Amino acid sequence: MSGVSLDVKKGELVALLGRNGSGKSTLIRHFNALLSLQEGELIVGGIDASGKKNIWDLRRLSGMVFQNPDNQFVAPVVFDDVAFGLENYLVPREEIPTRVEKALDAVGMKGFENRAPHTLSGGQKQRVALAGVLAVEPDIVIFDEATSMLDPRGRSEVLSIIRQLHESGKTIIMITHYIEECVSADRVILMDSGKVVCSGAPENVLTDRERLKSAGMMPPMPVRVYYDLLERGVQLDRCPLTEEELTELLCR
Ligand SMILES: Nc1ncnc2c1ncn2[C@@H]1O[C@H](COP(=O)(O)OP(=O)(O)O)[C@@H](O)[C@H]1O
Ligand SMILES: [Mg+2]
Repeated sequence: MSGVSLDVKKGELVALLGRNGSGKSTLIRHFNALLSLQEGELIVGGIDASGKKNIWDLRRLSGMVFQNPDNQFVAPVVFDDVAFGLENYLVPREEIPTRVEKALDAVGMKGFENRAPHTLSGGQKQRVALAGVLAVEPDIVIFDEATSMLDPRGRSEVLSIIRQLHESGKTIIMITHYIEECVSADRVILMDSGKVVCSGAPENVLTDRERLKSAGMMPPMPVRVYYDLLERGVQLDRCPLTEEELTELLCR
């Protein structure tokens, strides 16, 4: 990668936003050494991620959930699937069942231990994939468009677990091209053409219509309404990010 400089704080929920091909997946694949850095430096949780030497420490530190729920299963039943990673990380055998149960509990999938993954809904599959990540007890969880193939219900299930993980202190990096999913992030990083365009609070990044447009992104609906009204001579007190804020401002 080139021209990318960013800094994610411990416990932060960062949304990484950008059109297709803007380099989001490429960027985050460096964080746990799925890709290795060609130049520059990268430190993840105090670990040098620039070479190949710390791959296993990096993978333990940050887990990833990907787009397609069907491509993330390695075992015929849920329990074994969640347990799979643990053996690689040398977790003692007797500790494995407790870890698996705890992880399934965290994603609301307790009781599904013996189910075959193909009998689950998309949202349930993503939650099992996430349980496999959580069982390793990573500090950082990265979601690479993990909601993009889900129906609205599956999406909201996964989003609510993401929020819970954030509240429990995990550092979250969430890649999305649904701009509405960025509204509640601590920070939004906007990417385009393999570069970071800007990084800031949602109320700054998501209301900057021109910058979003030049990065190929449409602002959230309330922001569009704000500008449409402005063009018609109606000035709201501020630019809203959520439908609730918009309604409140319109009712004044
Ligand atoms: N900084 C960069 N410099 C050069 N090529 C890049 C850079 N970032 C991404 N690419 C290339 O662009 C393509 C799409 O990137 P990708 O990370 O998959 O985008 P996204 O996840 O945002 O859709 C990939 O083939 C990748 O190799
Ligand atoms: Mg991608």
